[in-house]
Amino acid sequence: MENDYTLSRRRFAGAALTAAGIIATGGIARAATPAQTASGPLGPFYPIMRPADDDFDMTMIKGNTGRALGRVIEVTGRVLDSRGNPVRGAELELWQCNAAGRYDHPGDIATAPLDPNFQGFARLITGPSGEWRVMTIKPAGYSSPIGWRTPHIHFDVRGRQHRLITQMYFSEDHVTNSKDALYNQLGEDAITAMAAQQAADRYRWDIVVSDS
Ligand SMILES: [Fe+2]
Repeated sequence: MENDYTLSRRRFAGAALTAAGIIATGGIARAATPAQTASGPLGPFYPIMRPADDDFDMTMIKGNTGRALGRVIEVTGRVLDSRGNPVRGAELELWQCNAAGRYDHPGDIATAPLDPNFQGFARLITGPSGEWRVMTIKPAGYSSPIGWRTPHIHFDVRGRQHRLITQMYFSEDHVTNSKDALYNQLGEDAITAMAAQQAADRYRWDIVVSDS
């Protein structure tokens, strides 16, 4: 787990990078700013029926004793504004299919089974450093009317001023990512939608919204 010390060390490293990243354009010094996270479509499976349990741990549902099927992963990150400053109090909603590739949504006609222990949806609020954290399972890819969807997690992020709807991808899925039409539409911006794998089951993804 991160503590304030590691977070402040990262901020310091970020400040040093920003200072080094100052570029001169026509004699005017301009600081490099973080690339805004690419937006993506809301998709057809935004939850209509919200689960009673929407906390950060999507691998369990309150009141159940079982665990969701699939590989448990932790995803952490920060929400940053267009200048790279943390956005405290941003609201994040996440939703995804289960390990079999099925969304808990009446519009999903996939025959893959639902998982009664998988929460499928979470609602988070960022902390003082813009940080957020979720425990979930690695989503499967699935067949859709627009073709094969590579594994992804949907995000709806509400910052102080702006809202960003996006999808997060996994670099380990580079083969199927390259066959996904929505992923390919991102072009060079795809890097902003890619989580960094820090350990076998730990990923990190900072989200940059257009707040200022
Ligand atoms: Fe999806």
